[in-house]
Amino acid sequence: MVMPPGCSLASDQHLPARLSARPEPGRGDDPASNGLSDADFVAVSRLIHRDTGILITAPKKSMLVSRLSRRLRSLGMTDFSDYVALVQGEAGANERRALVSAITTNVTGFFREPHHFRALEDLGPALVARARSGGRVRLWSAGCSTGQEAFSIAATLLSIAPDLARYDLRILATDIDPAVIETARAGIFDRQAIGDTPPPQLSRFLKDGPAGDGRIAVSQPLQDLIRFEELNLLHPWPFQGQFDVIFCRNVVIYFDAETRFDLWMRFAARMPEGGSLFIGHSERMDPRLDPFFLPVGITQYERSALKAGSGPVLAETAPGSGKGQACR
Ligand SMILES: C[S@@+](CC[C@H](N)C(=O)[O-])C[C@H]1O[C@@H](n2cnc3c(N)ncnc32)[C@H](O)[C@@H]1O
Repeated sequence: MVMPPGCSLASDQHLPARLSARPEPGRGDDPASNGLSDADFVAVSRLIHRDTGILITAPKKSMLVSRLSRRLRSLGMTDFSDYVALVQGEAGANERRALVSAITTNVTGFFREPHHFRALEDLGPALVARARSGGRVRLWSAGCSTGQEAFSIAATLLSIAPDLARYDLRILATDIDPAVIETARAGIFDRQAIGDTPPPQLSRFLKDGPAGDGRIAVSQPLQDLIRFEELNLLHPWPFQGQFDVIFCRNVVIYFDAETRFDLWMRFAARMPEGGSLFIGHSERMDPRLDPFFLPVGITQYERSALKAGSGPVLAETAPGSGKGQACR
């Protein structure tokens, strides 16, 4: 496999040098300031980067200290170095999952970045027509947090075709954080999460939650279209097939450039020509991926057609395998 210029490989091996950088002046080893030594900061940031792709650089040390402090309190621990030893050790598997929950940023919302759902409304009729004529249609909310993105996708499509559940059209919604997947599966949200005036496509799928505590539940037709699963996007994906539409928004913003590139390359390998990729408002497509993704809207990309023999060929392999996903 020959790598095109500028193409690099996904792996844990390219841990950025920034992770070994000393914390900025004034935020160093002074236990009174934060209690997390430079060495433990580097060790835990490397572990987080290796496990999640999330980059925690020196300026974010105080954020890390605050999130780790909560973990220490809940474990009844007082010493950061004991905690770091725990998560580095074999006995720390459960705590590593809790650490992922603690450090991920799960901010989301129904119909967040509404232009993407208007774009989905435009794409919807063709997807629905294909499903109605017996075709398989798959959408993926990758890094779905508590599910609002996937529910918004489902509500948009159901407003085009209320009978969708009868066809082979499904939404996969995944996140690395087990806690958010649990919330998404329950489909019950505080009123503030819904907002005062939910869009009409959504409001018809909302009802009072079962506990009678003022919380709101999303109704069954929305849930029926979605499968929520825990998944680390950097790990091998335990499913086959292609995705016509991928939403991966506000996820890679926390990754380093190579991890981001590798993930988008894997998406490209899983999308048919004409498929759609939506990324977050502050994310920008890597120019090395221009042969695969054509910008067609605000942070919206279409999977390009490649002329046989003239462009890069994609073949997905396991991330971090050292074999890469790209290339001719
Ligand atoms: C800010 S939320 C974005 C939610 C939604 N996509 C949106 O834009 O509203 C980012 C989500 O990405 C998830 N995430 C971070 N790293 C991940 C990884 N390596 N694999 C899967 N999910 C990840 C986090 O757990 C978090 O729920």
